[in-house]
Amino acid sequence: MADNVYEKYGLNDAVPRHVAVIMDGNGRWAKKRGMNRSMGHRAGMERIRGLITLSDRLKIEVLTLYAFSTENWKRTAAEVGLLFDLIVEYFIREIDELCENNVRIRVLGDIAPLPQKSRDALNAAIERTKANTGLILNLAINYGARAELTRAVNALLSENVQSAEFDDIASRLYTGGLPEVDLLIRTGGEKRLSNFLLLQAAYAELLFTDDLFPDFDEDRYAFCIKEFQQRNRRYGGV
Ligand code: IPE
Ligand code: IPE
Ligand code: MG
Repeated sequence: MADNVYEKYGLNDAVPRHVAVIMDGNGRWAKKRGMNRSMGHRAGMERIRGLITLSDRLKIEVLTLYAFSTENWKRTAAEVGLLFDLIVEYFIREIDELCENNVRIRVLGDIAPLPQKSRDALNAAIERTKANTGLILNLAINYGARAELTRAVNALLSENVQSAEFDDIASRLYTGGLPEVDLLIRTGGEKRLSNFLLLQAAYAELLFTDDLFPDFDEDRYAFCIKEFQQRNRRYGGV
């Protein structure tokens, strides 16, 4: 049976190669319902599957999800701990299906400060999916664009480079070798980038939606792709 997902959502096949999502609004979603923030994070986690499935069906090459920023350590130890526990839970539950769907998992960020069991779950997922050739799923965890740039510059310095081109820097970012971000979506209503992929999104189309992340289902995601297809990208030209 042909996959008529394009028809279903009124899309053409000029989809973004790389979509990045700032998954924001979990806390507010929970608050609105008189629940605690952890329930919001749990509800948010349930939306990830739909993003992966639709990205895969639309033949988007790379999906990057902002799961934890270098600034998110400012939250309570309980909330930080919960977010890392959810990572473990997610992979235990989803890894078989991700593997079946040929998804390749990568991490952007420094996971060294994470609890051992979260690192183990992430490393196991990376290892198990490394030969997969389908959708590349980047999880940005303990990620910040400033730390990423600093790391790239230090890598260059350690190689005794005297002068560098932008490509030398780009290839040393966590996203080295991947296409630039075409579409950057932020849920939750805030209109800022919060230290996410600042260089990779230099020419990305930005889309801010008021949907709180736990409400951001496949249909809402498809709507964003449709909006992207209506934009006119000029890259400085006419
Ligand atoms: C995004 O939701 C999830 C993470 C930052 C990990 P928030 O937890 O920031 O939700 P709000 O912004 O407080 O609603
Ligand atoms: C951005 O959301 C980080 C993630 C979604 C992981 P935040 O909720 O941390 O961003 P600010 O604090 O509103 O800028
Ligand atoms: Mg937030």
